[in-house]
Amino acid sequence: MKKAGLALAAAALLILAAYHALIFYDNEFRYGRMRQTPAVKPHEEPLIPMEAGVVPLAGGDGLLRLLPAEELSPPFALDDPGRRERGRAVYFTFCAQCHGPGYDGHGTVGQSFAPLPTDLRSPAVQEKAPGALFHSVSYGIPGGRQPALDTTIPVSDRWSVVAFVKSLGPRP
Ligand code: HEC
Repeated sequence: MKKAGLALAAAALLILAAYHALIFYDNEFRYGRMRQTPAVKPHEEPLIPMEAGVVPLAGGDGLLRLLPAEELSPPFALDDPGRRERGRAVYFTFCAQCHGPGYDGHGTVGQSFAPLPTDLRSPAVQEKAPGALFHSVSYGIPGGRQPALDTTIPVSDRWSVVAFVKSLGPRP
């Protein structure tokens, strides 16, 4: 009888100690608790209006992708100096590492590629329609190594880089 009483007391003491250890741990916890952060119910605050143009209603990239290269035409004149200047900045951000600062395909990256990066002043490239260049830059070359940059560079910047490449002309 006495033994059972002692065991019961020991068990109660153990449970009490464990409880206090847990409470101590909980109070000393360094990270934020869900119950301590303010709760915001759905639609309690007004929704932030979406900026215009985030969801394209016309002329989105998805529509361009569906068109064959020969039906793609630039949305601005390719000889626009502002666009060419913008295209130069795009080139030296996204293309020069492979196609090189001299546009000859001798960039640092891509020298192990087969085929090697194309000389952008070669007649083959310079004679291509702007839409064909836009298509290669945007969606890559099937079986080739030109990366598809449609999710990296916005549509207008891709046309600007096409304008810039065209402005280089064939190598003399
Ligand atoms: C990772 C390296 C790499 C980057 C970055 C890159 N290219 Fe290329 N590009 C290549 C390679 C390799 C080829 C040629 C091989 C192939 O795929 O046929 C090529 C081919 C091309 C061609 C020839 C396409 C054709 O239709 O024959 C054009 C034009 C071109 N690139 C333009 C660009 C422009 C403009 C950029 C930047 C917006 C760019 N490339 C970025 C590697 C690259």
